[in-house]
Amino acid sequence: MLDVQRLVVFTGAGMSKDSGLDTFRDADGVWANNAPQDYASPEGFRRNPRTVWQWYTQRRRQMLEANPNAGHRAIAKLDTLLPHVTVITQNIDGLHQRAGNQRVLELHGSVHRYKCSKNCRGLPTLTPVPELTQEEPLLCPYCGALTRPDVVWFGEMLPADVWESAVVEIAVCDAVLVVGTSGVVEPAASLLWRAKNRRKSLVEVNPEPTLVSSIADVVLQGKAAEVVPTLVATLEANQAEDRGG
Ligand code: APR
Repeated sequence: MLDVQRLVVFTGAGMSKDSGLDTFRDADGVWANNAPQDYASPEGFRRNPRTVWQWYTQRRRQMLEANPNAGHRAIAKLDTLLPHVTVITQNIDGLHQRAGNQRVLELHGSVHRYKCSKNCRGLPTLTPVPELTQEEPLLCPYCGALTRPDVVWFGEMLPADVWESAVVEIAVCDAVLVVGTSGVVEPAASLLWRAKNRRKSLVEVNPEPTLVSSIADVVLQGKAAEVVPTLVATLEANQAEDRGG
């Protein structure tokens, strides 16, 4: 990462674990207690829109109460150390933006936005969800259909514009720092294999071995909030030395 000009930071739920938010597939993860087909699929929403809406409202409250951790802050610091940093995240919590990163691609959307469940085009998908107190899904002010969180559910396509930007960033970057993902969900994870096939340097930060570990050039075993700040501090020290040099 020392002579990197264009860096992609690819993150998953482990990035926010040190902010108190659960991952998905760890033993105590989100999917251990909630069936994804009931809470994170169009069919689940059709069956029980009220239950799904309340579940995301509760997750959104947790995410608003959480704070960026030292790992998020270190990644935001990279914006000041390198000329071109893009965060490509699978997370919907908005913590990278709150930490200060300027360029964040949200592959799976955001819990802080909502949209018309019929995509009537009246309610732009970038509409921040109003402060939610009611238990019922809001109705689209343009067509009257139910609204839903602007997140990507299982079986749904990723937002085309975000996907295309992510593919470009992977193609032009010098290196990818991969933090806190199991690397099992597609098509997000395929971006990492794209990077590998294009001989980009891959550095992984994760307390456990993952599918990504097999293609990473460097695997740093540890927590995001501990390893990433050390990595960024080392980069900063090397840059200072080069300047002094
Ligand atoms: N720091 C860094 N990584 C951690 C930490 C930590 N403190 N704690 C756990 N991890 C790692 C786990 O070892 C695991 O490899 O975070 C990873 C979390 O993996 P998943 O739970 O599978 O989450 P993620 O990879 O983000 O899942 C991708 O799946 O369900 C969908 O849409 C959901 O965006 C999500 C996608």
